Amino acid sequence: MSPITTVLVVGATGSIGRHVVAEALTADYTARALVRDPARASLPAGVEVVVGDVTRPETLAAAVSGVDAIVFTLGSNGQGSRGAETVDYGGVRNVLEALGDARPRIALMTSIGVTYREGSYNRSTQSADWKRRSERLVRASGLPYTIVRPGWFDYHSPDQQRIVMLQGDTRHTGSPADGVIARRQIARVLVAALASPAAECKTLELVAESGVEQVNLEPVFAALHVDPAGSLDGVRDAANQPLEDEPDRVRKDLARW
Ligand SMILES: NC(=O)c1ccc[n+]([C@@H]2O[C@H](COP(=O)([O-])OP(=O)(O)OC[C@H]3O[C@@H](n4cnc5c(N)ncnc54)[C@H](OP(=O)(O)O)[C@@H]3O)[C@@H](O)[C@H]2O)c1
Repeated sequence: MSPITTVLVVGATGSIGRHVVAEALTADYTARALVRDPARASLPAGVEVVVGDVTRPETLAAAVSGVDAIVFTLGSNGQGSRGAETVDYGGVRNVLEALGDARPRIALMTSIGVTYREGSYNRSTQSADWKRRSERLVRASGLPYTIVRPGWFDYHSPDQQRIVMLQGDTRHTGSPADGVIARRQIARVLVAALASPAAECKTLELVAESGVEQVNLEPVFAALHVDPAGSLDGVRDAANQPLEDEPDRVRKDLARW
């Protein structure tokens, strides 16, 4: 793995992205933030702020120039199926396309339950379907990646500090019963994954359970299975979103890689 100097955070002003920026600075990386409105960004001193909008590909060249790693924590919250397609999915596609031949390490945040299509929220917004499609673009890109599917943000109790990584995405209640995790811990895992060979080409659900937070995440990453080479889905994911049933525009995007 090449050493990492500059980390681009896409979604840097969000509730997770701000923690990612802080973790990146703590790790002594140069943190670069893609923001739509610098006047509202309010990021720590030392962060490189680059203006861009993921739905406008022509605004992304400066953000991706020279980056060694990218953390995606985008959210189209409240924008329905259109936002899910244009931001959660299209934003990832547009940033990956802006990279050209560059090969940064990728950490993509999606969501626990991303493969469960029958939930009422997904039925009304296709939010999970579009996030899963963004995962597929990352896998198809051939870039080294880690995909992190967190449980419910900040619903943990004080004793739930032990980081647990799951695979197969089998928790489908659509409530905190599926798992909980601190925002800070999500950011820690996303940033730790960037420099971890053990996290490469892995997809995981991320929750916290009773116990003490691990000092070293390497054994936790190492215990996971790698996604099968050439597969669009994570290891053990349900085969319930067949490529042949996907919209033409999605298949065309995938075919470009
Ligand atoms: N809440 C939970 O328990 C939970 C659990 C698992 C997964 N999730 C997922 O986590 C995501 C939310 O994360 P969060 O709380 O960090 O989100 P958030 O606070 O709403 O932040 C979203 C980020 O995306 C950026 N963004 C949106 N549209 C953009 C665009 N067109 N171009 C560039 N940046 C854009 C926003 O920038 P601006 O500042 O410019 O708006 C902001 O930085 C959701 O997608 C949700 O499904 C949530």
